[in-house]
Amino acid sequence: MSSVNTAIQLITREQAAATAGGAAANTCSPALARGPWDFDLAEALAGTPAYGPGASAADVAPASTPRQGQLPEEYKLASDAELDARIRAAKAALGDRAVVLGHFYQRDEVIQYADFVGDSFQLANAALTRPDAEAIIFCGVHFMAETADILSRPDQAVILPNLAAGCSMADMADIDSVTECWEQLAEVFGTEPDADGRVPVIPVTYMNSSAALKGFCGEHGGIVCTSSNAATVLEWAFERGQRVLFFPDQHLGRNTAKAMGVPLDRMPMWNPRKDFGGNDEQTLRDSRVILWHGFCSVHKRFNVGQIEKARAQFPGVNVIVHPECPMEVVDAADSAGSTDFIKKAIAAATEPTTFAIGTEINMVNRLAAEYPQHTIFCLDPVICPCSTMYRIHPGYLAWVLEALVRGEVVNRITVDDGVAAPAKVALERMLAARP
Ligand code: 13P
Ligand code: SF4
Repeated sequence: MSSVNTAIQLITREQAAATAGGAAANTCSPALARGPWDFDLAEALAGTPAYGPGASAADVAPASTPRQGQLPEEYKLASDAELDARIRAAKAALGDRAVVLGHFYQRDEVIQYADFVGDSFQLANAALTRPDAEAIIFCGVHFMAETADILSRPDQAVILPNLAAGCSMADMADIDSVTECWEQLAEVFGTEPDADGRVPVIPVTYMNSSAALKGFCGEHGGIVCTSSNAATVLEWAFERGQRVLFFPDQHLGRNTAKAMGVPLDRMPMWNPRKDFGGNDEQTLRDSRVILWHGFCSVHKRFNVGQIEKARAQFPGVNVIVHPECPMEVVDAADSAGSTDFIKKAIAAATEPTTFAIGTEINMVNRLAAEYPQHTIFCLDPVICPCSTMYRIHPGYLAWVLEALVRGEVVNRITVDDGVAAPAKVALERMLAARP
């Protein structure tokens, strides 16, 4: 099976060759076929950041979103074969001094150079297993690189090959709006614990959030969760608090709390643009989980119609979706779980099985290639990768690695000590809460 990138190139060429109104579009944007540096340049010229083509293309990036400067021309012009040779030579020269981490959602053209491939949490831990590495090159997105920096030794440099690889969902909650929300909740609930010693609210942030929000949770008795431990973390929080403020992903919060028996009418949504999040005080008082109005634009693309179609076409199909999908999609699927859960579920199937998967296309296609005995396809028929993961390209990887060979560190991600210390507290609470 060809990689997502190759499929995009092919489809785009075919569409360009087709007569007007001819071929049906089956990528979400022909611009996906271009080098990500085109978008670095477009943003520099426009003066505003954007997520670029892919699932987050229509999301508005905050002005503070990091931007990538221009990639040197030699890396833009290099052929795939030249980049391959340069990356391999740089890695060989660096040896154990550098470790390359690749998230499941990265394109295959980058994953082939990763020393570790995994989900965001596994990769943060993978960095710890390489104490000799002076540089951790994180082929993922910004919040993952920040977490690796918090958990790694101060002398290890964490590098994000393209600084524009952020996350539209993580950007939907910022420290100012969460602090304002926290103050408004304190107006409603006060700050005193109840007779059982439970405080009014425990803040819980998804791993997909800025270091500042992890720090906020560390400072306010809160905790971090990932999609693989969200239920355990919510149990931890309910032992200590009357209710939870969950950010940024409403879907992970709702799907997890619902599975734990929390009624939907006790999960109001907090809209940061409205006073009290758009809720009346009684609704907030009755709440068990207050859900931030955030979502992932990759997982929002999945719908119940796609599942019905898969079931009609492949009777007995096993539908597995990520818990960042909307509730109706999770309810209609056979199971829901983190990227690692999806991978393990497929690995565990002993008989040839048809799997319809609701998560990012690069991961789904890779699983399909790894397990040819099964039929594995993405529920979304349109090829639409995560915009920001897609901003990493072998050209940037070659650039950061060759700079390291020359003794230069480019694109380092550092979290200030004042934020890193409380963020680490919230991350360590999560580790301790692991079942
Ligand atoms: P994982 O935490 O499973 O790596 O997922 C990260 C992510 O961005 C999901 O959308
Ligand atoms: Fe963010 Fe969604 Fe991309 Fe994950 S898949 S990095 S949550 S935009």
